[in-house]
Amino acid sequence: MNTEIIRNRKSVRTYKEQPIPEQTMNRVRDYLEHDTGLFEVPVAFSILNAREDGVSSPVILGEDTYVAGKYKKQKNAEISFGYVFEKFILYATSIGFGTVWLAATIDRKAFEKAVHLKEDEVMPAVTPIGYAADKRSICESMMRKGMKSDSRLPFEELFFHGSFQNPLNESDADIWQLPFEMVRLAPSATNKQPWRVVTEKDRVHFYEKKTKGYAKEATGDIQKVDLGIALCHFEIAAEEGGLKGKFIQSDPGITAAEDTEYIATYILEG
Ligand SMILES: Cc1cc2nc3c(=O)[nH]c(=O)nc-3n(C[C@H](O)[C@H](O)[C@H](O)COP(=O)(O)O)c2cc1C
Repeated sequence: MNTEIIRNRKSVRTYKEQPIPEQTMNRVRDYLEHDTGLFEVPVAFSILNAREDGVSSPVILGEDTYVAGKYKKQKNAEISFGYVFEKFILYATSIGFGTVWLAATIDRKAFEKAVHLKEDEVMPAVTPIGYAADKRSICESMMRKGMKSDSRLPFEELFFHGSFQNPLNESDADIWQLPFEMVRLAPSATNKQPWRVVTEKDRVHFYEKKTKGYAKEATGDIQKVDLGIALCHFEIAAEEGGLKGKFIQSDPGITAAEDTEYIATYILEG
């Protein structure tokens, strides 16, 4: 996995009606068996077929293969899910697939039935996999416009130094410049970009700026999933930049707004 794949990924909702070769599906199955979560929370995947499993999404055209993921309700589950499912999304991108995270615009009941969801489990999201059509449907183009999917918040609104009072300029980000650029390119539910990040010497603290009403029973807190995606992008870029570190959870006690929750810290090692 590398930052070029992160740069190349964009949500795809319009697909060619082109079957996926069995050999490619075997690679996907193999990958999914070895995809591991963060903070020791496992995620289970299922590969589903629209016709055989009765699953569908009103925003997807031309594709009927889906990958769904689920977890057992527990601490850090959403974060782990975001991290591990985004790794799969990037793997799928690297082998030429289009993908799109879908949490809201799916026939949720049908998907939950197809993955045999138990009462103590959550299936936050699914993605179709397949080959992107040459042109987006009108519906998809309108969705992208509505959510401003091609743009991201300015660097200084997302990244801070020492405290939330001190916005960080991209030119001052030093070793964190590439990892932060990759966090900024991350997909997020309705492109809300809830990731907020504070640097402090050899540490980078991640926070979730919550949008009211986004934490639901059926999906869990979907913006925590967005934070897991950000951690995934950050780690890939940090590794590529030769940094060695790991994620821990140790709240530094930095003053944050009431709607902003501490999630995790990346700490440089060695
Ligand atoms: C957790 C999550 C849930 C999402 N749910 C949906 C969804 O239900 N329907 C949809 O069409 N797109 C969904 N998206 C895709 C976002 O709208 C998209 O990532 C965002 O607009 C940025 O566009 P990009 O992925 O092309 O960079 C979701 C994305 C994430 C990360």
